[in-house]
Amino acid sequence: MTLKLGLIGYPLGHSASPWIHENFMKKIAETGTYEKFTIEPGPDFGERIATLKSANLDGFNVTVPHKETIIPYLDELSEDAKNMGAVNTVAQVNGKWIGYNTDGSGYVRSLENAYPELTTDKEQKIIILGAGGAARGIYYALMKAGYHTIDLANRTVSTAKEIATLNDGKVHTRIKTLEEAEATIGEYDVIIQTTSVGMEPNVQASIISLKHLKEKTIVSDIVYKPLDTKFLTEAKTYNGRIHYGHAMLLYQALYAFEIWSGKEVPIENMDEALKAYVQRSN
Ligand code: ATR
Repeated sequence: MTLKLGLIGYPLGHSASPWIHENFMKKIAETGTYEKFTIEPGPDFGERIATLKSANLDGFNVTVPHKETIIPYLDELSEDAKNMGAVNTVAQVNGKWIGYNTDGSGYVRSLENAYPELTTDKEQKIIILGAGGAARGIYYALMKAGYHTIDLANRTVSTAKEIATLNDGKVHTRIKTLEEAEATIGEYDVIIQTTSVGMEPNVQASIISLKHLKEKTIVSDIVYKPLDTKFLTEAKTYNGRIHYGHAMLLYQALYAFEIWSGKEVPIENMDEALKAYVQRSN
């Protein structure tokens, strides 16, 4: 089998996805390509998508700003993608485009892989900082994974409230301002930073101070440029346990690749290798 894969988004810049998927192909001894398609948002979007369809890809990833706008062009949606209202993975099956979302599930797998005690202890108190697309996917996937307490804090409280409407009734969710989150951060076992605050070039920014952090708290930041964000650096000074941003990238890609190839990929060593790759290209 030769896999013909791709990525659409704008701007694509230096994406790590081609490197990740080319490595996955090697691991299962398949050949193939993973090509970047820079597609600008705007009136030509439909035309560009029609051209993409004629490229006859087996599958492609969708990144910013098209995760929602791609939906009308798809033939089917997975339950996760429907609930999240966003697609990051499209698979072509007999000419039909099927949309999936592996961002949230990829994130949760990366977290549980790094901290296996989480797989059996769902009583851990979690707070998500931010309420954009990434936060929505992570909230939904944590809920599906069975966590009982998932709070949300955001600068704009109304968007956090909107995410909480995904609650199936089994999760306890409080909505907080960022100031309230900062003051009560010592209550949590897992803190997940999902905003772009701290990303290059604004590396001196941090969403909240962690001065009230409890020791051994798992502190996660989905930003991976740089890997050592100011947020994580501060967490280390208070003896937090760190979860780096590149891990979500790896596992959302793994789930996407497994959908396209129909095979399980052994990814031992890839975590460290991707970390090094991301650091080299930082
Ligand atoms: P994504 O889809 O990648 O998650 P997004 O939808 O643009 O990105 O969401 C960005 C998140 O970062 C939001 O929670 C946003 O807060 P608002 O909802 O109040 O806009 C948050 N964010 C971005 N810049 C911020 C800043 N300077 N301070 C606080 N929050 C910020």
